[in-house]
Amino acid sequence: MELGRRVSTCVLLLLCATWSANGGNILVWYTEGSHWINIKPVLETLVDRGHDVTVLVPSVSMYMKSNEASRFRYESFNVSFSMEDMEIFFEDFFHFFMYEMKQMNYLQIYLRFMELVKNNLDISLQYLDGVVKSDVIMKNLKEGNFDLLLSDPIYPGSDLIAEMLNIPLVFTLRFSLGNNWERHCGQLPAPPSFVPAAMSKLTDKMNFSERLWNFLFYTMHDILLDKTFWNVLDNYYSEIKGTPTSACEMMSRADIWLMRTYWDFDFPRPFLPNFKFVGGIHCRPAKPLPEDMEEFVQSSGDDGIVVFTLGSLIRNITTEKANIIASGLAQIPQKVLWRYKGEKPKTLGANTRIYDWIPQNDLLGHPKTRAFITHGGTNGIYEAIYHGVPMVGIPMFADQPENMIHMNHRGAAVHVDFHSMKAEDLRDAVNTVINEKSYKENAMRLSSIHHDRPISPRDEAVFWIEFTMRNKGAKHLRVQAHELTWYQYHSLDVLGFLLAVVLLFIFLLVKICGFCVRWSCRRMGKTKKKAE
Ligand SMILES: *[C@@H]1O[C@H](CO)[C@@H](O)[C@H](O)[C@H]1NC(C)=O
Ligand SMILES: *[C@@H]1O[C@H](CO)[C@@H](O)[C@H](O)[C@H]1NC(C)=O
Ligand SMILES: *[C@@H]1O[C@H](CO)[C@@H](O)[C@H](O)[C@H]1NC(C)=O
Repeated sequence: MELGRRVSTCVLLLLCATWSANGGNILVWYTEGSHWINIKPVLETLVDRGHDVTVLVPSVSMYMKSNEASRFRYESFNVSFSMEDMEIFFEDFFHFFMYEMKQMNYLQIYLRFMELVKNNLDISLQYLDGVVKSDVIMKNLKEGNFDLLLSDPIYPGSDLIAEMLNIPLVFTLRFSLGNNWERHCGQLPAPPSFVPAAMSKLTDKMNFSERLWNFLFYTMHDILLDKTFWNVLDNYYSEIKGTPTSACEMMSRADIWLMRTYWDFDFPRPFLPNFKFVGGIHCRPAKPLPEDMEEFVQSSGDDGIVVFTLGSLIRNITTEKANIIASGLAQIPQKVLWRYKGEKPKTLGANTRIYDWIPQNDLLGHPKTRAFITHGGTNGIYEAIYHGVPMVGIPMFADQPENMIHMNHRGAAVHVDFHSMKAEDLRDAVNTVINEKSYKENAMRLSSIHHDRPISPRDEAVFWIEFTMRNKGAKHLRVQAHELTWYQYHSLDVLGFLLAVVLLFIFLLVKICGFCVRWSCRRMGKTKKKAE
């Protein structure tokens, strides 16, 4: 199997070798947080293969740094808000999910969420202003002679720029709210009877009430996004282009959608020829650890280590929570490496070390690693799947709760509730995934599914990016569904026509029968008369 994979990778590399000799010129849309962490390895692979990569970077960003020494070119643009504005937005966002939400009813949650989506779009449009309304940047982009725009559409506007530059567009994303973008703009089929909506916390096995909930969940998000997102974006696009423009239609221009999930993690579902499922795009084999860290890891003996992080965006939690977590961790026999930026908790055990930053992937790939405590972001989950490490989830927001449900469903994880968690709950959860063999076995099974494919997800993503450049787009993969109205798509016009034909037929039949009956009655009457 290993040989087969190598051979197919070699064949692929050979196929592409002629192309990489005169590499393409790729423009990359700005993004943030884990989205940037995720796309970077793909860009590095593209550079390795001889392409030029230029990344648009806003002057204010938490993760993208235009002055960072790297192998990409950076095109820096100015934005009108400050780092503080941005931090306030993120604080607001996390505060809602981590502390406010549990005290709200559904309506309050919905309204507050609408407000957050609106605020997020406000910031996104200020970013977009920095590119599309800057003559300097637009001139640079036009003179850049790019062959392709690669974008994580979490920040909108890349489709507009791709059209202005007249170049193909490749999206990479994990999901959109209620899968609205994939379903409506990408035309990805998602029957609500067996494809659970992102963030619905459902699996693909649904009973009647769950299917009802899933259906409503899709509909609710469609309404929410129409009211808060699409109408604002439509206006913005129309203003820039000078003609009435549908932003969703612009989004549908994307040649390829690289979805960052795969069947080790997601439930089987129908998809289209221009949707590629490349979950685990950023995963790599583990590298050796820094010396002092390796020493600490080795000091764990047979008990091994537990790796703990709450993700790239959560920096601190309340002192109370930190103390609960620390005292839970102090009660397990493993050594713990905890990535945490807040103040050192009072209850921190001797077995736990706090780090500003940890080489998460290298730790997860370490033979001494027994479990991974995670907030349930897809990046971390995929690294754990890649290395076959069972997980304990403390999910907080966005897709995290549902990601953990996926892993739970496959028997590779348990999760604890962040709000109600006690020290003992965390301790017991870690002990469960380490001591009950099934968790490790299931994690290893997912790992072998993950690795057993003809080509690695990163190579697949790179292949389709190069494919799109070589063929100047991939419009031949575009389904005609994009050109249909909703009633044509569901064949309602055809059904209506057939219904009309059937009704007409029945009508005629009734008429003819009525006529026959009357006619034969009359004849019978006549014969009777004659007989008389
Ligand atoms: C961004 O702002 C700085 C300082 O005001 C200015 O020097 C620079 O030219 C601006 N960059 C662009 C691309 O407009
Ligand atoms: C459907 O499944 C949910 C979750 O398992 C359960 O709570 C609910 O009672 C079920 N409903 C019906 C009608 O079986
Ligand atoms: C996190 O830290 C910031 C600044 O140090 C503080 O303002 C904020 O309240 C803290 N958040 C929590 C949840 O403790």
